[in-house]
Amino acid sequence: MLTGPNVILTLKIAVAAVTVLLVAAIVAVARGNSRLHGRINLVFFTLTLVAVLGLELIVRVLAPDVFDYFNADPALRHALNRHLWFSVPSTFVMPAMLYTGVKGHVRLHLTLAVCFVLLWTGTFVTGIFFLPPTPW
Ligand code: HEM
Repeated sequence: MLTGPNVILTLKIAVAAVTVLLVAAIVAVARGNSRLHGRINLVFFTLTLVAVLGLELIVRVLAPDVFDYFNADPALRHALNRHLWFSVPSTFVMPAMLYTGVKGHVRLHLTLAVCFVLLWTGTFVTGIFFLPPTPW
C-alpha cells in the first residue's frame, strides 16, 4: 500500500543497502583498487538516483498527499526538515563525485569526498534513526 510510513520504511532500507556499497567502494579505493571503486560507485550512483526519482514520482505524481501527515505535526516536520538539509545537498554533490571520478580530477574528487561523506552520514543518521516509520 502506498502510505507515507511504507514509503519511509522502503527508503530506509534503500539507504542502508546503498551505504553498504559506498563503504565497500571506499574500502576498495583505500586498498588501491580505484577501478573497483569506480565500478561499485557507478552502481551506488544508479541505485540512489532510481530511489530519489522513485520518491519524486510518488510525492509529485502518484500520491502527492502521502506525506501530508508530516505537516500536521511540528515535531515530525522538524525531523523531516533536518533530514532534508543533508539529503538534498548530497543528491547534488553525488553527480559531481561521479564526474570528477570519471574525468580523473583527483584533487577535486577528494575535496568533494569530504563534503559528500559528511552529507551522506547526515542523510543516513537523520533518515534512519530520526525519521519515525510510523506517524507519531
Ligand atoms: C566518498 C568518498 C570517496 C573517496 C575517498 C574517493 C576517492 C577516490 C580516489 C582516491 C580515486 C582514484 C583517483 C585516481 O588516482 O585516479 C577515485 C576514483 C573514482 N571515484 Fe571516488 N571517492 C569517493 C566517492 C566516490 C563517489 C560517491 C563516486 C560516484 C558516485 C566516485 C566515483 C569515482 C570514479 C568513477 C572514479 C574513477 C575510477 C577509475 O579510475 O576507474 N567516488 N575516488
